[in-house]
Amino acid sequence: MFSDPVINDSEPSVNRPSREGECAFFLRRWLANPLKVGAIMPSAPALARRMARETLVRDGEVVVELGPGTGAVTRALITSGVPEDRLVLVERDSFMHAYLAQRFPKATLIHGDARRLERILPESCHGKVSTVVSSLPLVSLPNRVRDDIVKSAFAMLAPGGRFVQYTYGMFSPLPRKELGIAGRKVAFAGINLPPASIWRYTRLADAAAAGA
Ligand SMILES: C[S@@+](CC[C@H](N)C(=O)[O-])C[C@H]1O[C@@H](n2cnc3c(N)ncnc32)[C@H](O)[C@@H]1O
Repeated sequence: MFSDPVINDSEPSVNRPSREGECAFFLRRWLANPLKVGAIMPSAPALARRMARETLVRDGEVVVELGPGTGAVTRALITSGVPEDRLVLVERDSFMHAYLAQRFPKATLIHGDARRLERILPESCHGKVSTVVSSLPLVSLPNRVRDDIVKSAFAMLAPGGRFVQYTYGMFSPLPRKELGIAGRKVAFAGINLPPASIWRYTRLADAAAAGA
């Protein structure tokens, strides 16, 4: 099992392990499975905050986070105003999943593969997701797997919903034309190792309506 994170209880609503403890745990998971984890350390707070700023919080809807890892982005989502009990976290790594359960007890935590989102997400959430916040290493996945994940995520979105993704690359991590979606780079987080860009994607119809 993992070693217990050191909890700082000065923030009772969000259990906060020390950054060092979180990084050490994350690194161990990366060493165990580098390709599946996709990064050697958790996102820096600046990147996590920027992801949170792209997230819609709307009545009656939920936010789904794909690949929360140790919860760096999750914590930013909660501190920026997403109620913890309206967060659905989908994590495939069983050790990360156990870590998250301890850290975010009010969130809905799913131990599963984002590729099967339509099957693993509670039915009450179907079509009621305001934003899918993804930290998955999409650019290193086979195209078929990447496309399955993105299509099932878009199938879960509410009207006007978004898919937010960061990437360490210079270009869109998703082929917009091929997937029939709209998207653009909305931010750059230089204070992250490595620096990352944040992309926001929507359905084509929503992008057209927003531009009208
Ligand atoms: C790059 S890490 C990001 C962790 C965290 N969100 C952050 O920004 O620090 C990617 C995470 O996605 C998880 N993951 C990878 N593929 C997955 C999949 N198909 N379904 C669910 N989680 C997945 C990994 O276990 C890992 O925790």
